[in-house]
Amino acid sequence: MTSRFVIANWKMNPQTEAEAIDLFSATRDAAKSASSVTVVVAPPFPFLSQIENRFGLANAEMRNEAKIHLGAQDLFWERDGAYTGEVSGVMEKNIGVTYVIVGHSERRRMLAENDEMVAKKLKKALELGLVPILCIGENERPGGEIPERVGEELKSAVLGLEPSMLGRIIIAYEPVWAIGSGIPDTPEDMLGAAIYIRKILTEMFNQDLATQVPILYGGSVNSANVSSFFTETSDQVAGVLVGGASLCPEEISTIITIVDRLAV
Ligand code: PGA
Repeated sequence: MTSRFVIANWKMNPQTEAEAIDLFSATRDAAKSASSVTVVVAPPFPFLSQIENRFGLANAEMRNEAKIHLGAQDLFWERDGAYTGEVSGVMEKNIGVTYVIVGHSERRRMLAENDEMVAKKLKKALELGLVPILCIGENERPGGEIPERVGEELKSAVLGLEPSMLGRIIIAYEPVWAIGSGIPDTPEDMLGAAIYIRKILTEMFNQDLATQVPILYGGSVNSANVSSFFTETSDQVAGVLVGGASLCPEEISTIITIVDRLAV
């Protein structure tokens, strides 16, 4: 594997434009010094255009030069219309967003986002040419086995996709119990989850495609544990989705540097 992903999901942080610009700037500096990492930052909606205005990421050349991309934390499944409070992928695209998180567990749990809604969002993102980062993961891990719910979330989201579309998505395996808990999954169990996901994709599509889809790990990733997900899981894990630690400039910079070193 030659290229890996670090996705920074800021969630509902920080509170001011000045803080957002500073945090983005530090993340961008780390991304610039890395050679084999694609860095995506997903700030809250109000900061997307402020960051784009400051850093010019609507321009593909600027994105590539800075080695950093803008991500949105969600999108709505319609292009426009009477949907109070929603944000469309078209608007996101128009301000330089290239990646979008779909089906994050916080939205599934707290905002009742169900499998059907996630599937519609995933398809809309693909239709608009955004790269969806599809989040799946179980609420509880009773034993060593990956609960079937993970498979259900995956199947319902990708059902009916053209094979060429599957090749454009990223999957983030995020066990809900590991998110924000300070207790990450073990690299062994993450490896098991990645194999399970690829098995389902092989059954639904084909092995070549299933092997190509990047699978990321998310849930309490920090600079102290990030390397374990790569050294012990070889080529199965293509990167990490980082929440809390992405809000600390030193942490996210170190994570980017470590992932870059391991990718070479
Ligand atoms: P965390 O969040 O790194 O704070 O656990 C990850 C996520 O929710 O994407």
